Amino acid sequence: MANENDGTQFKVAGDSSYRGLRRVLTYGTFDLLHYGHVRLLRRAAQLGDYLVVALSTDEFNAGKGKKSFYSYEVRREMLESIRYVDLVIPEDSWEQKVTDIKEYGIDVVVMGGDWAGSDRFEYLKDYCEVVYLDRTEGISTTQVKANLSTGPTK
Ligand code: CTP
Repeated sequence: MANENDGTQFKVAGDSSYRGLRRVLTYGTFDLLHYGHVRLLRRAAQLGDYLVVALSTDEFNAGKGKKSFYSYEVRREMLESIRYVDLVIPEDSWEQKVTDIKEYGIDVVVMGGDWAGSDRFEYLKDYCEVVYLDRTEGISTTQVKANLSTGPTK
């Protein structure tokens, strides 16, 4: 699959080189990309050979009453530029996860520790491994937005 922004080629599920890889999947909005996101992505990538990020669409977020600062297209462009990320796919429903796991041959679903034990992910243990990674303390998109109006923390 070609990245329309810079022409980068991604391996995709149909490629022969995709077989035999340990594949990792994570979900999120990744708005105002920050070092907490990057660390999560780096550690997720270390759990396998190929990292898929399911990125919440603007419509999906609107249904949750959330609006990101950057559009889906811009958030995707930034994620695709990160060396740990092999493929970005849209997340537009709560129910797509089992389909994603099957379609992309996922071995591990990874989420930040804020989701540990959540019904949204626990049932996926019937289909693949589910791993929760500790969040990076002291940073979140919400906090970045707040800090921009009050000034940086020391
Ligand atoms: N994440 C993390 N450490 C942080 C912030 C986020 O490990 N300090 C992880 C989340 O647990 C999730 C992924 O990064 O697995 C995407 O998180 P997202 O909700 O998009 O980012 P937040 O910064 O948590 O955004 P918000 O403040 O809007 O909740």
